[in-house]
Amino acid sequence: MQGLIRVAIDGPSGAGKSTIAKAVAKELGLDYIDTGAMYRACGYKMLREGIEAVSSDPLRDMLGRTDIDFSGGSVFLDGENVDDMIRTPEVTKMASACSALPEVRAKLVELQRAIGSRKNVIMDGRDIGTNVLPDAEFKIFLTATPEERAKRRYEEMIAKGMEADYDQVLADINKRDYDDSHRELDPLKKADDAEEVDTTYMSIEEVRDHILNKIKNA
Ligand code: DC
Repeated sequence: MQGLIRVAIDGPSGAGKSTIAKAVAKELGLDYIDTGAMYRACGYKMLREGIEAVSSDPLRDMLGRTDIDFSGGSVFLDGENVDDMIRTPEVTKMASACSALPEVRAKLVELQRAIGSRKNVIMDGRDIGTNVLPDAEFKIFLTATPEERAKRRYEEMIAKGMEADYDQVLADINKRDYDDSHRELDPLKKADDAEEVDTTYMSIEEVRDHILNKIKNA
């Protein structure tokens, strides 16, 4: 294929976006860009600096001296690898809250577009096909029922030795779905030209192969 290949994967939390995107990236030699990790890194920095999730001068000042990038599959905040810091419940809440702020979205979308303009990428998030890379060559919208997504997240937490309560995980997923799809700016939404893939009854390999076939047969 000629030119840049950009694959946009959007969908709600727990639909399997990152697992699938990583698998496809590996097969096709694309760079995987986890845009949720960028909102998490931003939220982490806000928590560390005591900055509230509202539009303010301290927030704008902080964003002016923030760089977030990927290398070797890890996310770097101002040069520091923050992979291990950004998956806590506190950061998860802050990432969701800060992702509704116009200053934060403007900054991160600019960084994401810059990354997408210089290399072959598979980027996952909520607004990649609709807003970040509207011209992406391939767009997939991954879904699964909230119950299935809660089950996957619950099993992942248990496997990692974390404490987990299924009902709580389901409640958190429902709340995040609501917040992500009802916020004013770039809400979670399927792009008109994206293909919706319901993964509720599909294995990871089936979803991966479906996307690989779509790209290889294009
Ligand atoms: O995918 P995730 O759970 O790591 O994302 C963290 C938060 O960031 C989530 O609340 C949604 C938000 N987000 C967003 O608003 N836009 C994106 N492109 C990616 C994530």
